[in-house]
Amino acid sequence: MLDFVQVPQKDRIIVALDCDMSQALDLAEALQGQASWLKVGMTLYYSQGPRIVYELKEMGYKVFLDLKFHDIPHQVRGAAASATRNGADMITMHALGGAAMMQAAVEGAQAAADDFGLDLPIMLGITVLTSMDAASLAACGIERGVNDQVLEMAKQAQAAGLAGVVASPQEAAALRTLLGEDAYIVTPGVRPAGAELGDQSRVASPADAFSAGASHIVVGRPITQASDPAAAFEAIAQSL
Ligand code: C5P
Repeated sequence: MLDFVQVPQKDRIIVALDCDMSQALDLAEALQGQASWLKVGMTLYYSQGPRIVYELKEMGYKVFLDLKFHDIPHQVRGAAASATRNGADMITMHALGGAAMMQAAVEGAQAAADDFGLDLPIMLGITVLTSMDAASLAACGIERGVNDQVLEMAKQAQAAGLAGVVASPQEAAALRTLLGEDAYIVTPGVRPAGAELGDQSRVASPADAFSAGASHIVVGRPITQASDPAAAFEAIAQSL
């Protein structure tokens, strides 16, 4: 597995491409040679399919394919195998899908990696969606508070063999203590000083997110909607 600590923080900034195909390719071109990672989410993937992954990989990027699997183990085993075969370098699933589902994902990805001579993708658990609060968790029968639920799900994800979790910067420090030095902790909700918050409420600066324990940070609109995305990326890299 990649030892992220030896990778410069600049190469651990993941740019979220929440846009259409032509914009995604324009951004990929603008950031080429600067950014190492791009994130493809459901909107872009379900409109373009695996070819978006192929195209970004061909341009030299690592691809975070954020499809948040949540289904029966058999289905998720297949999904993880397919994502691995398509070249995804990082994939996500809901830890709430359970230990058997997460283990099946690891097995599926490992089998595909072995069959096709690829690296195992970095496999991450989604703990609690940041759109959920204590009341919406309680409505699902989960009476633990949000923070306790995040930590419990993270523990289960790690026990099932996942490499780490996606979490807000506010949760990163507690997760780092819980999961140890090697765990991947990938944090969205990152905003450089002075940037628009958009719909993010609990945000941290890039440097603060890394200091809190993030292994990788996800930044979308502050880069993708900047008039000069490459300059916006560089400014964040310089701030680290
Ligand atoms: O544009 P922005 O920087 O807010 O983009 C953040 C990215 O991280 C988006 O792709 C969003 O879906 C994702 N994300 C998030 N909060 C989470 C999980 C994922 O903002 N809890």
